[in-house]
Amino acid sequence: MRNIDSYTHTRGESVYLDDIPLTAGTLFGAVYGSPVAHGKILKLDLSEAEAMEEVVRIFTYRDIPGKNQIGGIVPDEPLLAEDEVHYNGMPVALVVATSVEAAQSAVKKIKIEVEQHTVVTDPRIAQKNGSLLVPPRTFKLGDTQKAFESCAHIFEGIAETNGQEHLYIETQGAYALPAENAAIKVYSSTQGPTAVQRHMADVLGIPMHRIEVDVTRLGGGFGGKEDQATSWAIFCGLATYHLKKPVKYCLHRMEDMRMTGKRNPYSSDFKIGLDKDLKIIAYEVTFFQNAGAAADLSPAVLERTLFHCTNSYFVPNVKATAYSCRTNLPPNTAFRGFGGPQGMFVIEAAIAKAAEGLGIAASEIQKKNLIQTGEEFSYGQKAESEAIVCWEKVQSLYDVEKIKSEINAFNTSNTLYKKGMSFMPICFGISFTKILMNQARALVHVYTDGSVSISTGAVEMGQGVNTKMLQVAAAIFSISPNKIKVNSTNTYRIANTSPTAASAAADLNGKAVQIACEKILERIKAVAAEILKCGSSVIEINGEKIYANKEVADLSWDQLVMAAYLKRVNLSEHGHYATPGIHFDNTIEKGHPFAYHVYGTAITTVTIDCLRGTYEVDAVKLVHDFGTTMNAIVDKGQIEGGVVQGIGWMTMEEIVYDAEGRLRSNALSTYKVPDIYSVPKELNIHYLETLNDNLAIFRSKAVGEPPLMYGIGTYFALRNAIKAFNPNSNIGFFAPMTPEKLLMGLYSSTK
Ligand code: MTE
Ligand code: MOS
Repeated sequence: MRNIDSYTHTRGESVYLDDIPLTAGTLFGAVYGSPVAHGKILKLDLSEAEAMEEVVRIFTYRDIPGKNQIGGIVPDEPLLAEDEVHYNGMPVALVVATSVEAAQSAVKKIKIEVEQHTVVTDPRIAQKNGSLLVPPRTFKLGDTQKAFESCAHIFEGIAETNGQEHLYIETQGAYALPAENAAIKVYSSTQGPTAVQRHMADVLGIPMHRIEVDVTRLGGGFGGKEDQATSWAIFCGLATYHLKKPVKYCLHRMEDMRMTGKRNPYSSDFKIGLDKDLKIIAYEVTFFQNAGAAADLSPAVLERTLFHCTNSYFVPNVKATAYSCRTNLPPNTAFRGFGGPQGMFVIEAAIAKAAEGLGIAASEIQKKNLIQTGEEFSYGQKAESEAIVCWEKVQSLYDVEKIKSEINAFNTSNTLYKKGMSFMPICFGISFTKILMNQARALVHVYTDGSVSISTGAVEMGQGVNTKMLQVAAAIFSISPNKIKVNSTNTYRIANTSPTAASAAADLNGKAVQIACEKILERIKAVAAEILKCGSSVIEINGEKIYANKEVADLSWDQLVMAAYLKRVNLSEHGHYATPGIHFDNTIEKGHPFAYHVYGTAITTVTIDCLRGTYEVDAVKLVHDFGTTMNAIVDKGQIEGGVVQGIGWMTMEEIVYDAEGRLRSNALSTYKVPDIYSVPKELNIHYLETLNDNLAIFRSKAVGEPPLMYGIGTYFALRNAIKAFNPNSNIGFFAPMTPEKLLMGLYSSTK
């Protein structure tokens, strides 16, 4: 089934925040962000801005009726700066004016005097200064110290990954309207409607039930609107609260890039030990996470880095330590993969280093160490592994030996172009690592004409979750998808939502839809049994037809629904689902945190131009564990998008802050993202159907985040191509591999 949004998307009729018709009297907000990254505010001069005719009012922290606090995990983030600023762009004042232009120009008239303090942008320096967001955490399995003693080969090194702009097509924004009895309705481009509601209630000092958050869809979130959509919604809410007027604020792209956090950059130390048969015996890793100026989601991102620090491999002795380091950058945050990719890059770097040291291909080590069913991850959960199946399928399906010999032939006959290839196995745990978040709700109504409406806590952001919700209801009721409508995500219909994140939205909300539909179905079947004078157990509904004892009855779905209504049967249901069997004890860092894992393997081939440093991704060919996909088209879109986003992170996307903490890559002219010319020339996806029972909705495994990690393969393929040109090149493991870096690498030397 195609994505239910495709029709209105193509016609430009889909409603995003900026498409909501404005109510008369709407005012417009703009935030004044600190021009310096760290310091004490000595003076804030609003007078010139306030004097503008179109300016209605300028708010500072003094206008906050409740708590000036929006920290989600740690209460360390004020909505508006009080006497200190901690990053360039940190909100200091909110201007509200009669037009967007006036609000923007008033912001330029605000003056500030700041006593500047030392700016730290490097996580390792922050860690040395003792500037940590939360205490460090260590995951341990076995005894690395002892294990290293028996290793035949030991390699050490440093690996770094940079941040990544979310670059959702729709920037952050919100629109708040005053409602009856001092309530506020807010349209927000958020992945977490309840986060917006809860924090707005705290900031305004009013109960949550007075705040209605409504989300039709996002023009992309990618994690950037899990926590970071909240402040913009509260700014609108704060102004609406005071002015009793509708207030809208959609960020300009450059405001968005400057003021919001990105994927957490990491700098890491690794040490890997192998025995003579290339089995990884021991792995030690220390992660220095660049968290930015406030915790935001960084401690949770850090946790997932630890969970995925051994990727798809079984390592019997692991010691992984992670520091969440406070720096003077905008608070970094969730981004597709949520720390997982950052952890996986490091072990892939360690394996590449070992392979180079031993003069073999990394794949020799990779394939020997793939985790098998029953083997334990460092956090105690035992794998139900598809890692070897995926790897072997890639080998046979894509004729890897032939690819290898073609690359060798190419490299022998070309001096200024070289090709490289890599294998990238992935393993990603599905569930929020915070156990309590693994719950969801759905509200299903069947109307008297037989049509159905569904509301859930899932937010549609392009990943097709609404299509999947609709499919669940259509399958349970066995009615046409045309009879079903999925509504906007709204906190008045669905309370206490978990954010749409962790790739878990379809599973959690889908199961809640399933539960609600099954309850209604049971009641409707009982009515059919009554009408047809048989037992409920012999009633079946198939394609809107009612069968009794396998015989089609003279009774349609629509008629049956009406009959149920006339008999005063409840045609509405609220379903609640909580993932069973998951637990984690963070005092010992052991448990069973994931409902299941998603596996896959990709091979990537690239061609580099050794004169110019440019490159192309020739092909990404992968085998992905879908369980049993419930929507192959939607899932294909997720794989394609994820792969390209991963390639962008690993190659051309480069975030640059200067020593003063100022973002230099602050526009699309200075921050390069993949376009149609940079997607792999070939992208082959094989749907591995895995038949064992899992906790996914209709056994269709979560697909939102895992494919991004295939992109890591491109980095290593490029590296291998460089080595083919210059075996002594000195390139280290510093992503992204921009063309500049690649060019320098080609002509560098370890000798
Ligand atoms: N796909 C699109 N088109 N747009 C997005 O913003 N976000 C990704 C992924 N795929 C995203 C996307 C992220 S970060 C997550 S966690 C999942 O979708 C969330 O949706 P799901 O739980 O329904 O998979
Ligand atoms: Mo996705 S990073 O969990 O929103």
